[in-house]
Amino acid sequence: MGTINAPEKFVAFAPPLMGDEEINEVADTLRSGWLTTGPKTEKFEKSLCEYIGTNKGVPVNSCTSALHLAVHTLGLGPGQGVITTPLTFASTAHVIMYQQARPYFADIDPETGNLDPVEVRRFLETECEDFNGRPRHKLTGDLITTLMPVHYGGHAVDLEEFWQIAVKYNLNMVEDAAHAIGSRYKNLPIGHPELRPEEASHLKSFTTFSFYATKNLSTGEGGFISGPDDGLVERARVMSMYGISDSRRIWGRYSPKGTWVYDVADLGFKYNMMDIQAALGLHQLAKLPDFISRRAAHAETYNKVLSGLEDLVIPPKTKPDIGHAWHLYPLRLKPEALKIGRDEFIETLRDHNVGSSVLFIPLHYHSYYRDRLEYQEGSFPQAENFFKNLINLPVAPAHSPELIRQVAEVVAAILEKHRK
Ligand SMILES: Cc1ncc(COP(=O)(O)O)c(C=O)c1O
Repeated sequence: MGTINAPEKFVAFAPPLMGDEEINEVADTLRSGWLTTGPKTEKFEKSLCEYIGTNKGVPVNSCTSALHLAVHTLGLGPGQGVITTPLTFASTAHVIMYQQARPYFADIDPETGNLDPVEVRRFLETECEDFNGRPRHKLTGDLITTLMPVHYGGHAVDLEEFWQIAVKYNLNMVEDAAHAIGSRYKNLPIGHPELRPEEASHLKSFTTFSFYATKNLSTGEGGFISGPDDGLVERARVMSMYGISDSRRIWGRYSPKGTWVYDVADLGFKYNMMDIQAALGLHQLAKLPDFISRRAAHAETYNKVLSGLEDLVIPPKTKPDIGHAWHLYPLRLKPEALKIGRDEFIETLRDHNVGSSVLFIPLHYHSYYRDRLEYQEGSFPQAENFFKNLINLPVAPAHSPELIRQVAEVVAAILEKHRK
């Protein structure tokens, strides 16, 4: 394939972008004598709350922990069900299983990859019946208590639609915003308390973010849980630190004015964030607007080079009321137009020094869920079709605009070569 102009070095799918500011802040933390949850975590927490425009939130060690705290604090338990998407990472459904409740998948909108509100309504109308003002699944008898949409790839779900469903069916809401720090809906950052409408104020809700190595903002591993109800967020904070009732004071106990006394008031978890992580987060958060602009520019480059090619589907134009964080750039091949399949396409990209990924393998394809939930191939045709033809291209801000242009041209050249 001599005609394809491959990048000189391998283009990693999602490398982090860390600068001297992060390195110096971590060094400062190491020298400070305080490694775990402490002053830097508190500062990061304040900055995140300010950025999102919320009162309260808790930095934790992953989005999985944040999701678990959310469903635990909502009192999710046996005999209950949560509606979510099959096109997500295991964590979204795992935390439901941790609570011995059950995930119920509804199909996706094939344009965005997000949970489709039409499918959620269909599930509630046809597969559930009313039981004292809450939907009850006709076959399993599970009470459906919670909606858990995922802002796939940083494109916010239609929150207004989801809140209308939540109000009509009396459902709590957990937004899996693992991809969506920096995403906006109707001009407000995801996680902003005003995104829960007034008529839903009796319903409980949380938003959870991920700061994993590949995410829009990275602390290596890390997460954040926030919500519009201060009391619930405080409860999540207590549960993130063993269930110690005054968890804020716990890290102050070794200071000159600290006390050794504490009370374990509940069966909590060890989900707290360390200052070493927060040291990274402080500077990553300051850079987030620039990171998002770079991601958007990369997406624009792909759109320009790849639009008009008939053998693939590029992401649709972002809706006017959405601020896309471009955590992912999902490209879909049209297999009928090509002589090679998706997997071979990925191999060919790799042969030309381009890393890519497939996010996600639908959850009902994984053996754990296949063996436990009564879904089969064909249960969610849109999610399955999306996955079958999906390639996520690199869109990380660590890559230069020139390199992304080169990647786009490699994609176009491979298509050209293998067109039927
Ligand atoms: C949609 C989604 N939810 C949750 C998570 C879990 O995030 P973390 O790795 O911070 O636990 C991920 C991780 O990639 C994710 O993609």
